[in-house]
Amino acid sequence: MISMKKIIAGNWKMNPDVPKNAKKIFLGIKKKGSTLRNVQTIIAPPHIYVSQLQDNVSGHRVLVGAQDAHNENAGAHTGETSPLALTRMGVKYVILGHSERRAAGETDETVHAKLVNAIANKLTVILCVGERERDEHGEYLDVVRTQLVNATKKLNARDLGKVIVAYEPIWAIGAKAKRAASPEDLHEMVIFIKKVLSKKFGRDAALRIPVLYGGSVNDQNAEAFLGPKGGADGLLVGRASLDVQVFGNILEIANRIK
Ligand code: PGA
Repeated sequence: MISMKKIIAGNWKMNPDVPKNAKKIFLGIKKKGSTLRNVQTIIAPPHIYVSQLQDNVSGHRVLVGAQDAHNENAGAHTGETSPLALTRMGVKYVILGHSERRAAGETDETVHAKLVNAIANKLTVILCVGERERDEHGEYLDVVRTQLVNATKKLNARDLGKVIVAYEPIWAIGAKAKRAASPEDLHEMVIFIKKVLSKKFGRDAALRIPVLYGGSVNDQNAEAFLGPKGGADGLLVGRASLDVQVFGNILEIANRIK
C-alpha cells in the first residue's frame, strides 16, 4: 500500500466492565491520536458504549467502530446491531468475522451477508481472517483463501474500496497465545492475501486494499509488523488497546513509520 495513513484499530472486545472507564480510555487515546497526521485511529468498543464514544468524536483522526453488525437493517433480531443505525449515528467502521465470533458460530456465509449489507450502508469493513494453526503443508493458506473468497463472493472491485483485511492468526490472539506471529509470517500472508484478491478483483484493486495484522500486538513488536519486514498497513490491537499509554506508544510508532 503506497503512502497511505497507517490504520490502527483497537478492538476492546467486552471491556471495560466499568462504563465510565470507556470514556476515560477513549479520551486518553483521542488526545494522543488527534495529534498524529499519519495514523487513522479506530476504537471499536462494546456496542453499549458506541453511542457515548461517538458523541465524543471530533475531527477525523480518531473514530469509533463497531465490533459487529447484522446483515439486516431492522427487524426481529433480539440483541443484534443494525448497520443502518450505526451509519446514522456517524459510525464509519465495523469489524466483521472476528475469530471470537466465528468460534461462537458465525459462518463464512453469515460474514459474507453482513459484509454486503455493511457496504450497502456505507460502512468500511475490517474483515478478519486467520488460521487456527500453522501446519507444515501450507494448509493454513487454504484456510485464509477460503475465508477471503467466501466473504467477498458478491463484491465487485469498487466494493473492495470499503474493505480492510485484518490477518489475525488465532494461535496468536489473546492472553493464552503462545506468541505473536513473526514479521516474516505476516509478510508472506500480506502478499498471499493480495494475490488471492487480485485473482478476482484485479491487481490494482487488490494492491490498494489495506492489510492489518492482529494478535498479541504491543508497543514492543508493533514496529516490526509495520516496517518493511512485516509489511502491514496497520494493526488490529486487542488487549493493548485498553492501555492508554501502551496504545499511545503504538500510535506514535505507526505515525513515524513511512
Ligand atoms: P490481542 O487480540 O491483541 O489481545 O491478541 C487481538 C484481536 O483479537 O483482535
